[in-house]
Amino acid sequence: MNKSNGKDRAAWLQGPSAQCEVAPDNSKIPWRIVLLGAPGVGKGTQADLLHQRLGACHLSTGDVFRAAGSRSECEQSPAMKEALGYMRRGELVPDSTVWELVRERLACLQCSVGFILDGFPRTLGQAESLKQLLDSEGITLSAVLSYELAAGEIVARLSGRRTCEKCKAVYHVTERPPQVEGCCDRCEGKLILREDDRPEAIKVRLETYERSTAPLIEFYRKLGLLVQVAATGTPDQIFDRTVSELESRRIQVFAHKLWSAEENRR
Ligand code: AP5
Repeated sequence: MNKSNGKDRAAWLQGPSAQCEVAPDNSKIPWRIVLLGAPGVGKGTQADLLHQRLGACHLSTGDVFRAAGSRSECEQSPAMKEALGYMRRGELVPDSTVWELVRERLACLQCSVGFILDGFPRTLGQAESLKQLLDSEGITLSAVLSYELAAGEIVARLSGRRTCEKCKAVYHVTERPPQVEGCCDRCEGKLILREDDRPEAIKVRLETYERSTAPLIEFYRKLGLLVQVAATGTPDQIFDRTVSELESRRIQVFAHKLWSAEENRR
């Protein structure tokens, strides 16, 4: 099983010229999942657990921007500098910039291990572009998981979050503390407070989510892909809930395909 340590998603984090260490795997049907949910609901935490269980790569657009932000100023393109400004304020990066970034990483969406998209799509425009791209490539989504939690709990999760500067692993000061304070359990990198986890940026992010991203719930419901998951309880409890929802969805889809094939034969 591949590890979420950065090297296995090098092509996602650094762009198509970088090489991943993921071994192709054609032995099983890959999971291709989109995660929806407000900032701080726990998408990244669940994506990491799902990656460990399902083998699919955790592809976060936010991680791509943060990886670019940790490079020196002269290595950043003007579009990337502009994108980082939006991110710091808690606003969405323009669709055209995000789409360019995703398009040039198409190989990650085609990868035989599958994917868990976290933070993309985030607007109806992005969702429609993704649908067209996947349709044209003959790639089918397995499910869209929508995590739901009350706003008060979301703010508590965001303000206590600490992220590894190096491998991007996510901790929480009280709920998911590292073994050694300030130090990543996986790679010993420094744990930092994300710039957009300041109270002013959190407020903008939550408002932006309601306005621009929440409508995607209906978009994916109409496509028959939506799976709603309560994001209450511990990460492991939410993970167990997620896996059982995914398993029952796969059984339903499989049964539907069998039934349709039988109908066509008649
Ligand atoms: P992005 O990085 O995608 O951030 P986000 O969606 O705001 O989500 P977060 O990473 O903040 O939260 P999460 O749901 O992953 O929660 P986590 O698991 O970390 O995007 C950042 C920015 O990039 C955007 O604002 C935008 O500017 C830009 N951007 C990115 N994609 C874009 C796009 N497609 N279009 C336009 N702009 C884009 O958990 C949070 C905390 O809670 C952690 O500390 C965790 O340990 C803790 N926690 C998790 N689960 C639990 C639990 N069950 N109980 C208690 N604590 C928990």
